[in-house]
Amino acid sequence: MHRLVSSSVVLLAVSARCFAPSILVADGLAPSALTLLRSAGANVVERHYAQAELGAALGEYDAVIIRSATTLTSEIIDAGVGGRLRVIGRAGVGVDNVDVEAARAAGCWVLNTPGAPTTSLVELTLAHMLAAARGLQDADVGLKSHTWLKGQIRMGATGGPRQGHELAGKRLGLLGFGRAAKGVAVAAGALGMQVHAYSREGSAQQEAHQAAAAQMGVVLAPSAEELFKACSHVVVLCSLSDETRGMVGRQCMSLMQQYGADNTPCGAHLFNLARGGIVIEEDAAACLEDGTLSTYATDVFATEPPPRDSPLLRCPNFYATPHIGAATYEAQARVGTQIAASVLSALRGSVPSDGVIATPARS
Ligand code: MLT
Repeated sequence: MHRLVSSSVVLLAVSARCFAPSILVADGLAPSALTLLRSAGANVVERHYAQAELGAALGEYDAVIIRSATTLTSEIIDAGVGGRLRVIGRAGVGVDNVDVEAARAAGCWVLNTPGAPTTSLVELTLAHMLAAARGLQDADVGLKSHTWLKGQIRMGATGGPRQGHELAGKRLGLLGFGRAAKGVAVAAGALGMQVHAYSREGSAQQEAHQAAAAQMGVVLAPSAEELFKACSHVVVLCSLSDETRGMVGRQCMSLMQQYGADNTPCGAHLFNLARGGIVIEEDAAACLEDGTLSTYATDVFATEPPPRDSPLLRCPNFYATPHIGAATYEAQARVGTQIAASVLSALRGSVPSDGVIATPARS
């Protein structure tokens, strides 16, 4: 018995010692996550490769951890898997920059951290909605150019800032009903908004959505069109896919309510906290110019950063942040440590507890 126990301890120690995977951290990671990887025995290389060099380089690593700055195409994944690559970790939610089908077919794990940035994304959504409702950006820009816009924001001004409005009493539409959208629903409900949501997800998820919606007092819309038709404020929070690319264009924008449920003339306000490419930017610019939209505020663009000649950049009532939904200390710490733990699990052959997008068919 004694000999059995001591030989298992020796075996465990040997296997811990043998666990020395090479992990490429391509787009940076929180220091706590790097410590976790290194203390587990991983050889961590922090390096951002140019897209053209990435395929050849990936074959040298057992795992790669990326954020949004690296795109893993099928060619790059195949080249990596032709070498040592077994695990792709996406430190974040969106996996639109990874060819998931190619990874699955090549027998590679794809992992992400779906819940880690939720609180930060919910808070940024609320920040955009509140800032637009009260004209915060215009007021700030005005003050810095020595203009006191109090009267204009109080009463509204032709060609100037819009009159402020309360979010309370307005109908909010959530396009997507995942973790972030549910968080926004709770916060917006607490502010007194009436919340509607639409999700394209299949029937398996619809039952769960119905239960969650009933519990939160959210009205589920039967289609995207019905959602836009019902609401003066809409937040895009769905993922980018072939089905959602270009989904929000002039047709949806022109369906939006200009009045709140409280009958106040608040205008139509569109927010995109999900991915560029879902909202057609040229349509948003044209709708801002002709007054169909009172606000388009976004954290994401079809091309990031947007080209200097993007029509949005010339529009009044267009407000933007540079893809900072998860850019907080807390979110980065959670995203980093979760993806590090998941990648280590997969490398050891165990299924991570959350965020498994693809498992290796051949494992
Ligand atoms: C995400 O998908 O987690 C966010 O968009 C953050 C990011 O990719 O930078």
